[in-house]
Amino acid sequence: MMKTSGCSVCHSIDKKIVGPAYKDVAAKRKGEQDALEHAVRNGSKGIYGPIPMPANPPTKIADADLHDLVVWILTK
Ligand code: HEC
Repeated sequence: MMKTSGCSVCHSIDKKIVGPAYKDVAAKRKGEQDALEHAVRNGSKGIYGPIPMPANPPTKIADADLHDLVVWILTK
């Protein structure tokens, strides 16, 4: 899912690429499931550094997949 939605171009579990490592997201945003889904859907900037994340529209990732992916990220 990570790969088909293009997330892995910028993210990995334990290494910063363009975006923060999912481990760092999980540590910083524990319990913020809804806020994270919103951030991935609409884009996010200024939380981890100067590089913004572009919005990820439903054509890229469906609501149910986005939900499952954020649940998974928060277990890292
Ligand atoms: C073009 C590169 C890029 C792509 C593609 C990308 N991201 Fe990101 N992502 C980033 C950057 C950069 C940030 C940090 C933004 C910030 O500092 O606020 C980020 C932040 C995040 C965060 C943390 C947001 C927050 O508010 O704490 C999550 C979760 C996340 N990305 C998940 C995803 C998922 C899931 C996908 C695939 C659907 C994805 N990203 C695709 C670059 C990307």
